[in-house]
Amino acid sequence: MTRVSIVTGGASGIGRATVDALLASGGSVVVIDRPSAELHELAKLDRVLIVEGDVTDAEVNNAAVSLADSEFGGLDAMILNAGVPASGDIVMMPIEIFDRTIEVNVRGVLLGIRAAVPALRRRGGGRIVITASTSGINADPNMWAYNTAKAAVINLAKGAALDLAADAITVNVVCPGPTETGMTTGIKQVPEVYESLRRAVPLQRWGTAEEVAAVIVFLASQASSFVTGAVVPVDGGITANTGQFMPRELPADS
Ligand SMILES: NC(=O)c1ccc[n+]([C@@H]2O[C@H](COP(=O)([O-])OP(=O)(O)OC[C@H]3O[C@@H](n4cnc5c(N)ncnc54)[C@H](O)[C@@H]3O)[C@@H](O)[C@H]2O)c1
Repeated sequence: MTRVSIVTGGASGIGRATVDALLASGGSVVVIDRPSAELHELAKLDRVLIVEGDVTDAEVNNAAVSLADSEFGGLDAMILNAGVPASGDIVMMPIEIFDRTIEVNVRGVLLGIRAAVPALRRRGGGRIVITASTSGINADPNMWAYNTAKAAVINLAKGAALDLAADAITVNVVCPGPTETGMTTGIKQVPEVYESLRRAVPLQRWGTAEEVAAVIVFLASQASSFVTGAVVPVDGGITANTGQFMPRELPADS
């Protein structure tokens, strides 16, 4: 049976790599994203349908599930990947930016879960996979708003995993570290920041969208059937570090 997935934020970066990997495995995909040329390009592919809109709108999430049902015969995996970054001073950042960060990164995910659960139940079970961040496990300077949102979505996933286990619906989280995507293009243009992030990664390089997508696709597949409530870093080892020393800072014999 062809597996059917919905991917939010599927027009770019990690979401787009996830769509490509799902298609390569023979699956069908409904993509939710904001209007863009990239989204319309996706609509030209076989086994891809698009819903143009904002994940903070319940109707957009519901429309994607209806499309998966009517055009592909049901839903197996809801991949809640759309997210927005935020950084700024803890006193000075306009509160509207904080509100929007929570709205997209947390409320958007909750709406996705709510839309998907009835369809996954009809299928007798299924997968929910959420893209959080290493920034939801620990904090970063000036990124408290993003840290708050991504930490919240991690615990939302754990709660949902408990509540949906009886329906054979698993809920898991991936936590990417620095990954080359549209979201991090700005960082790439500041070579010292790009390089300092690279050095902070024990594997000494940025990750690719495909490397994160590979873990998402596993968690969205039947192969992950006994994994739920898990938080999986895909971060080249960043979260393994206490942060007291940079990787390779101490000589091996000290
Ligand atoms: N790139 C990184 O280094 C990194 C690290 C950790 C976590 N993440 C997380 O990975 C996820 C994917 O990000 P990415 O790096 O691929 O970025 P990206 O900007 O390349 O892709 C994000 C996609 O989500 C869409 N999107 C954003 N807000 C939306 C909304 N309200 N409604 C519908 N679509 C929306 C965008 O249009 C875009 O297509 C995000 O949740 C992000 O927070 C990224």
